[in-house]
Amino acid sequence: MGGSSRFQIAVVVVTVVLVVLGMTVDGFSTELIPRHSPASPFYNPSRSHYEHLQDAIERSRKRLNHFENKIEAPLSPGDIEYLMRISIGTPPVEFVAIADTGSDLTWTQCLPCTQCYKQNFPIFDPRRSSSYNTISCKADVCFDLQTISSGCDRSNGTCEYLYGYADGSRTQGTLSIESITIGGAVIRNNIFGCSHISTGTFQKIGGSGIIGLGAGKLSLVSQLGESGRKFSYCLAPYSSKSTSKISFGSDAFVSGVSTPIQSDPAYDAFYFLTLESLSVGNKTIPLPSSNGVIRGGGGNIVIDSGTTLTLLPQETVLRLSSALEDAISLPKTVDPSRTFNLCYRVEGETEFPNVTADFKGARVVLRSINTFVEVADGVVCLAILPTQQEVSVFGNIAQTNFLVGYDLDARAVSFKPTDCTKAN
Ligand SMILES: *[C@@H]1O[C@H](CO)[C@@H](O)[C@H](O)[C@H]1NC(C)=O
Ligand SMILES: *[C@@H]1O[C@H](CO)[C@@H](O)[C@H](O)[C@H]1NC(C)=O
Ligand SMILES: *[C@@H]1O[C@H](CO)[C@@H](O)[C@H](O)[C@H]1NC(C)=O
Repeated sequence: MGGSSRFQIAVVVVTVVLVVLGMTVDGFSTELIPRHSPASPFYNPSRSHYEHLQDAIERSRKRLNHFENKIEAPLSPGDIEYLMRISIGTPPVEFVAIADTGSDLTWTQCLPCTQCYKQNFPIFDPRRSSSYNTISCKADVCFDLQTISSGCDRSNGTCEYLYGYADGSRTQGTLSIESITIGGAVIRNNIFGCSHISTGTFQKIGGSGIIGLGAGKLSLVSQLGESGRKFSYCLAPYSSKSTSKISFGSDAFVSGVSTPIQSDPAYDAFYFLTLESLSVGNKTIPLPSSNGVIRGGGGNIVIDSGTTLTLLPQETVLRLSSALEDAISLPKTVDPSRTFNLCYRVEGETEFPNVTADFKGARVVLRSINTFVEVADGVVCLAILPTQQEVSVFGNIAQTNFLVGYDLDARAVSFKPTDCTKAN
């Protein structure tokens, strides 16, 4: 009987939470804007396609370095590739923020500023919004975020947070409740961070904050109660420069093959998956179950839209390269930037052998576009690099032309091959 009464209490609590949160939106979609695309406010037309790519690779290597000494959200916000348009408050105030599948807190800079960095959009003033509310530090949600610290502001009892990123960037402010508008849909009573002090690399990125799409309790996705805690995106090829689409709730498209999301309580925000093996033709390369001290809750790779390259253990990359070399008869060459180790000289369109990624329960066939990248005219290299870090990453080149669905209720990530330039 104890079980059933606990269940009843749970139902009551859930109902109360839903009523309090009052989110009645079913589903919504918006653009995911690559940093290098003409639609991005940070677009620099004077840089070539290859230079943009080189920048992205540099960013993904830096982002990875930060996985190493992480204690907090394991990324450098400046290294992320995708942006989203979002509005906040009533009346809504629009800005562009970074979309991040590797952290949970959605935040923007708020007036009054104690220490704000320069941003391209006006800073949000909560006093001008009729839907803004603070949260008491006595509320449980005050401690639902994996922060450096959160707690009471002594003068008025509001919940204050200090959220950190592994490159040393910090943002600090008042945990608040507000309406957020995405793709025309208004999501009421969203918990977000109203930051008054932000230090570190945010200055460099210019975005007005971060949209947390991680797996933790307070991420934007986790807060989509009734409509289904899920989202999906379809990333267009890097070279197409076109924007991609991201969909939430009932708009999210979760189908195709699916693999379980593993969780590690020490890394709340991460979507850990289990990659069992890679194969080229009939050569199979098994992956180690864990790559060091990060346990991954049984998973061995983080899927991340913000990292450009795929990063795997050194031994795996060596064996994969050798299997590919055996299967490819093109002339080898060196990468002018010396980033990549396996490069070929190509003329015109070339199909490279498929690499089959066997995730637990899900076979994903990676095609040339997912594994090779043109780094200079006629030079194509394997876009998978070794990492000595604690964690492997399934990056965004590998996810190109798949509809990738994240379902936090079913705790699964799904992949469906799709032409993402047409799907958008
Ligand atoms: C509570 O106090 C803090 C710091 O003194 C201030 O930033 C915040 O705006 C106050 N909140 C309210 C609701 O008055
Ligand atoms: C693996 O593939 C190679 C080349 O296609 C073939 O010669 C060989 O017989 C295959 N081995 C097996 C066990 O199927
Ligand atoms: C790679 O996989 C795709 C989709 O499964 C298939 O259509 C294509 O023929 C394969 N290419 C090669 C070279 O095997």
